[in-house]
Amino acid sequence: GIVNPLYRNRYHASPPVGWMNDPNGFVQYQGAYHLFYQFHPYDAKWGPMHWGHMKSTDLIHWEDLPVALAPDQAYDRFGCFSGSAIERDGKLYLLYTGVTEADEEGVHHQVQCLAVSEDGLHFDKVQQNPVIPIAALPEDASQIDFRDPKVFEHEGMYYTVIASKASDETGQILLYQSEDLVEWEFASVFLKGTKEQGIMWECPDFFQLDGKDCLIFSPMQWPQDGDDYQNLNSSVLAVGEVDWTTKQFQPASYQELDHGLDYYAPQSLEDDKGRRICIGWMQMWGRDFPTDTLGHGWTGSMTIPRELKWVDGQLKQYPIGIEAKLVQQGENSRIITLEDAKETIPGIEGDCGLLTLKVDTSELDNLNIYLRENENERTVVSFNKEKNELGIDRSTSGIELKGEEATPPVSRKVTLAGDRDYLELAIYLDHSSVEVFERNGEAVMTANVYPTEEATGISFECSGKAVFEEATFTPFV
Ligand code: FRU
Repeated sequence: GIVNPLYRNRYHASPPVGWMNDPNGFVQYQGAYHLFYQFHPYDAKWGPMHWGHMKSTDLIHWEDLPVALAPDQAYDRFGCFSGSAIERDGKLYLLYTGVTEADEEGVHHQVQCLAVSEDGLHFDKVQQNPVIPIAALPEDASQIDFRDPKVFEHEGMYYTVIASKASDETGQILLYQSEDLVEWEFASVFLKGTKEQGIMWECPDFFQLDGKDCLIFSPMQWPQDGDDYQNLNSSVLAVGEVDWTTKQFQPASYQELDHGLDYYAPQSLEDDKGRRICIGWMQMWGRDFPTDTLGHGWTGSMTIPRELKWVDGQLKQYPIGIEAKLVQQGENSRIITLEDAKETIPGIEGDCGLLTLKVDTSELDNLNIYLRENENERTVVSFNKEKNELGIDRSTSGIELKGEEATPPVSRKVTLAGDRDYLELAIYLDHSSVEVFERNGEAVMTANVYPTEEATGISFECSGKAVFEEATFTPFV
């Protein structure tokens, strides 16, 4: 085939060929989960954006469907950029950003456009496009950075949050409202950023979860704060409250959604089981994309879908779909103790599956978990008891990732909230990804790795004593 499968993930959504970035239009429709995505079908690098389309019933196996949107109109000729989906009267609507043909000054504007489908397969762009033209912008908003509409319903009205930029080079999120998804009116500057919060915000998503108003967005160049926000761009969850009379969002706190190296532009849906499920693009701008450079014919993968929940005031993220498939078979009766040693554990090896660990840390100083290991390569997940710190390091993982970003970080750390007498980790490995969920996703770290195919070893090195009450590897088959 034209696609080299070496680094292709087996249980993460990837494009059949070509380039993928942001998840778009993540929605449940007629009994299936639909996932659209930023897609360049003709090359493994970013180019004129189409909307790729796939669907799934289990959120693990994705069926590729025909391209849903192609850039073929004056208002979207430069690309069908990110957006969202919603069902109305049995029809499926896509609200997306059209990047227009150049005007007389050579400027491409960003406008919001609508497409509709009666079968969830064929989409027609509506006559009224663009449904939110640049004339509908408030005073201080860029005409070239106005994108990524996420539509939702609130008390009988449709709303969409849209990312935009103010003239002082700060990000902001605009709110528009509509009764029928076709005619939109400007409602408010939902949230305006400060100079300390990045130069532009992308991909906003607003929802209520367990009584809290939540706003996710992806700021470009949000400055580093301690160990947080070290990647070029970040994904942030702001929790606060919307005043529905002024239609403004009052943020009370911000947190980074994933403390790893590859997570951007997440989007969520609420499914018929009431689950708020969030999926992110498992990559980052400004870095190399090895599958493109190597000529493998494809680039891009989504994260595992993650259910968001508040538990005792803390955000948790639970892997969805795959968690049911990778439930450990049989009993884990053995207790293994390691003391100042580096060891493998019988039965624990592989490059695709789930590593589950429960470690009594009462006499532990430091534990390193080596994944995708051979003589020269390893990806390191570490826990330091005294600092209460979880880390991921891909500096020796295989292919080195450089790129336009000046010094891309190769490792990240996060200080866990509260002590850990027990370290509980669920580590999901796929052919080129590692996703670490600490204590049911209180902390999550995601990274792509490109090791040698034979690097399938897993070993453990500790100083002090690590008592493994559970240590299992469940391969994905
Ligand atoms: C985020 C983003 C969006 C835009 C899309 C273009 O990754 O830059 O703001 O709509 O990608 O592909």
